[in-house]
Amino acid sequence: MTEEEAKKRLKELAMEIRIADAQYYQDDAPSLTDAQYDALRQENTSIEAEFPHLIRKDSPSKTVGAKPGGKFGKISHKVPMLSLDNAFTDDDVEDFVARIKRFLNLPDDTVLEFTAEPKIDGLSAALRYEQGVLVSGGTRGDGQVGEDVTANLRTLKTVPKRLTGDGWPDILEIRGEVYIDHDDFDAMNETQIVAGKDAYKNPRNAAAGSLRQIDPAITAERPLKFFAYTWGDISRPLSETQMGAVEAMARWGFSTNPNMKVHKSASSMIEHYHRIEAARSGLGYDIDGVVYKVNDLGLQERLGFVSRAPRWAIAHKFPAEKAITKINDIEIQVGRTGALTPVAKLEPITVGGVVVSNATLHNEDEIRRLGVKPGDTVEIQRAGDVIPQILRVVKDGSGEPYNYPNMCPVCGADAINDIDAKTGRVDVVKRCTNGLKCPAQAVESLIHFVSRRAYDIDGMGSKQIEVFYERGLVTEPSHIFTLEDRNNEIKLESWEGWGETSATNLFDAINARRTIDFDRFLYALGIRHIGQGNANLLAKHYLYWGKFYKDIKSIENAVSPAWLELMGIDGVGPGAAGALRDFFHSQNNQKIVEDLLEHVEVIDAEAPSTDSPVAGKTVVFTGKLEKFSRDEAKARAQSLGAKVSGSVSAKTDFLVAGPGAGSKLKKAESLNVRVLTEDEWLVLIAE
Ligand code: IVH
Repeated sequence: MTEEEAKKRLKELAMEIRIADAQYYQDDAPSLTDAQYDALRQENTSIEAEFPHLIRKDSPSKTVGAKPGGKFGKISHKVPMLSLDNAFTDDDVEDFVARIKRFLNLPDDTVLEFTAEPKIDGLSAALRYEQGVLVSGGTRGDGQVGEDVTANLRTLKTVPKRLTGDGWPDILEIRGEVYIDHDDFDAMNETQIVAGKDAYKNPRNAAAGSLRQIDPAITAERPLKFFAYTWGDISRPLSETQMGAVEAMARWGFSTNPNMKVHKSASSMIEHYHRIEAARSGLGYDIDGVVYKVNDLGLQERLGFVSRAPRWAIAHKFPAEKAITKINDIEIQVGRTGALTPVAKLEPITVGGVVVSNATLHNEDEIRRLGVKPGDTVEIQRAGDVIPQILRVVKDGSGEPYNYPNMCPVCGADAINDIDAKTGRVDVVKRCTNGLKCPAQAVESLIHFVSRRAYDIDGMGSKQIEVFYERGLVTEPSHIFTLEDRNNEIKLESWEGWGETSATNLFDAINARRTIDFDRFLYALGIRHIGQGNANLLAKHYLYWGKFYKDIKSIENAVSPAWLELMGIDGVGPGAAGALRDFFHSQNNQKIVEDLLEHVEVIDAEAPSTDSPVAGKTVVFTGKLEKFSRDEAKARAQSLGAKVSGSVSAKTDFLVAGPGAGSKLKKAESLNVRVLTEDEWLVLIAE
């Protein structure tokens, strides 16, 4: 092919593919089959590979998904993409089954069905089909918002562009795992090495890197595959069971894992786990455990979710991989909440395909328990994404015993052991007492502030924060929002590694975050014990940031109404409550928050949208419930927009009292709170 011919053909292909795309995405019958369409894209890819200088601005390999500027568009997940809780031992699996029966208020000897299937070690993706046609695809991201990698996902052979068979719902979002086979991975790495490039660490990293290519033509050359195993937004149920749903996916053209089976007991699930473990090395792709799911979808719905994972599923992980290496040194890191964490600096070693050079030693007690010192030879283990741990000393290096510091190695302030609010015992963790005046705590807090689940500022990560902090430009959150105004002096675009575009992009990313949801805002402040789950719970309870802030500041002692209200919120423990009180009582923190509020607006949480008569009401459960477990009753009430509290006060709207109710019932009666039986409650919440 001459250059002239190539140029002409690329132009034609761009047009043909654009027309085919338009036909494809709209409802009318596309004029091409999948194979014809793929052939056009393939032809385009190979001409572009031969004549890279002729790649058109509007090339089909670039159009969908990838936005200019080297970034992907965002995709919000209508149904959040959650993670899974882990089980490590057979007992954990037995507990999981027992817990589910308890939650559903079923007798111990009830037979419940569970599916068991391999946990693929790749990265999850969501594919949206409308009228049977693939319209978009995204990564998991933070579970709420992922990246739009539609164009890249389209290049996978195992991602159907159009569903086969029939009976699919009009809207169908299929979720599963993108991964690379062992054979393909080896071949891919050979190519990398021949080309003088670094080899990939493991198939998972290679898959992630390949899916996030700006140029889909590169993704198309990578051997990515997709296993479908669950779903998100759907216009109609797929089946009555998990197994039925996965079978339907297979009929619609998806690859599903052949090692998925239904079991009726924990022991049979565990047997399946060991069978898969034995077959692991011969499967041809990486797996890191077995996932169990309640088979009955009606029961899955009743079980629901706890913060970020479903109650109806669990991942039974394979044992961690181990290795022997030497400790060169022990260093102390200071975290966001001031916790001193000893980290062992290791002689680098490969464990399970990844080079490890740090392992956590957790705290002072752990160092003593293990008896480790610099110079010792130790056995380490690494499980999945978890930070490697030290298991034992294999050989004494006859070095000096490690002297644990009594002061913060960063700012020199005293480091002390707190008293645990729950147990009243001395905590094993030493903490720097200097709060945000300690540079390590300040920097870590800022890094947390901009992180993905908090403010999520694109282009602002730990490296940028460190530099801004060192130069004294950002020492507290509000400073981030004045960077652009100060740029006349800062001249970010002239810094090494920055330019006009990256500076403008950063300011745009910051400006895009001048409004923020209540729960994210609270989480971003990085208060001890206030993770995403608690932040969410608090936002749902208080709804208005202003009310929350005023209330917490007003706490004077253990009988202050605001304290009693806070402690009464179901799920908020004394540790979290105390941390909130302490944080908002500090004048320094109040100033930090108020300065920040000069630049950002907190969006109040939405009042429950349900029209249930219990929405927005405060409910307390007491005594024995007969139809539901206490946990299910609470979860159900919350899903209808009610607030569940552990104690009765004048603010309680309903007390649901079963047999055996005692002091709470008396208190409710004395306060004229409406008391309901379990049956009356069920009538009240019936749809
Ligand atoms: S089910 C609501 N099944 O594991 C839970 N997940 O740790 C939906 N994963 O983000 C997930 N294999 O990326 C499910 N057979 C499987 C899986 C699987 C791998 C991944 C998935 C998820 C992560 C959770």
